[in-house]
Amino acid sequence: MTSEYQDIVILGIESSCDDTSAAVLRGNKLLSNVIASQAVHTAYGGVVPELASRAHEQNIVPVVSEAVRRAGLTLGDIDAIAFTRGPGLLGSLLVGTNFAKGLSLSLGKPMVEVNHLHAHVLAHFITEEGEEHDAPKFPFLCLLVSGGNSQIILVRAANDMEIIGQTIDDAAGEAFDKCAKVMGLGYPGGPVVNRLAHEGNPKAFALSKPNIPGYDYSFSGLKTSFLYTLRDELAQNPNFIEERKADLCASLQATVIEILMKKLRKAAKDLGIKQIALAGGVSANTGLRAAFEDHARRYGWKIFIPKFAYTTDNAAMVAMNGYFSYIAGERCPLDAVPFARVTM
Ligand code: KG4
Repeated sequence: MTSEYQDIVILGIESSCDDTSAAVLRGNKLLSNVIASQAVHTAYGGVVPELASRAHEQNIVPVVSEAVRRAGLTLGDIDAIAFTRGPGLLGSLLVGTNFAKGLSLSLGKPMVEVNHLHAHVLAHFITEEGEEHDAPKFPFLCLLVSGGNSQIILVRAANDMEIIGQTIDDAAGEAFDKCAKVMGLGYPGGPVVNRLAHEGNPKAFALSKPNIPGYDYSFSGLKTSFLYTLRDELAQNPNFIEERKADLCASLQATVIEILMKKLRKAAKDLGIKQIALAGGVSANTGLRAAFEDHARRYGWKIFIPKFAYTTDNAAMVAMNGYFSYIAGERCPLDAVPFARVTM
């Protein structure tokens, strides 16, 4: 980081889904990161967009105030406001975007727009106070796995990313969540599957793996084979799920990981890249983290696994991305409109 920018203070605002978050960064040093999660959706088995927008509207002022307070600063100290412009739920994004506009106007400070997916990748550059931080070197590959995305991203620079592979149907997190739902494990199912998988046999059930070209992913075949396994077994034994829950979770998790790592290995080998990062909500999965560590040993990869706090939606990564964009001279006009769908 050049010294010219080490004192730049960025306020990050994240409101793309069901977490309202604000963070303050000085240079690449994180001063605060406040997240208000929305419990209201649990009863519905998934995020209800209308309720998410309302909760953001309630949370945004206290969350931003708290982030600035914990940073030991005042709003007047902020040099720029970075906000998530998309992708995400439109109503949720509008809350953060409009708040950023209001703040920009009242403070007379510029706005910087952030692509939520880029922010997940750039979370690897967040440095905490007093921490020895080892960030990936460009170019690196990032496996971004969440409830909405499964992508292999070639990161040439902070502002030069290319999706070289992505899911053609369900995302990895969706596969976890949907299979967990049919087992009655609640929402989001990924963490529950992860917990139960520790007690099960990953080879107990052979589930379908895709055979598609390039670096793309597919998880719909796996989901279908999981459903058929349940259907056939339940016909013989109505207690099948209860009795074999751990084995089902272990087999599901092992198959998802095998699918993810196979394409990542191929991309790393083809491109000759050994700096490999992991990002997104599914990166919390302990089996996937172990697979990364195993690949580091076997293939000499230098791996970057984010702290749990930065795997889920958070404004620290938005502020980090905002910092890179700000020093690259990017500014966002006041008529910017959020975008709901994935673009890169
Ligand atoms: O990035 P994220 O917080 O937001 C969305 O994209 O929605 O990712 C959430 C996803 C969910 O599908 C959740 O089940 C999954 O990440 N997830 C996990 C684990 N923790 C969260 N999946 C597997 N194992 C976990 N430990």
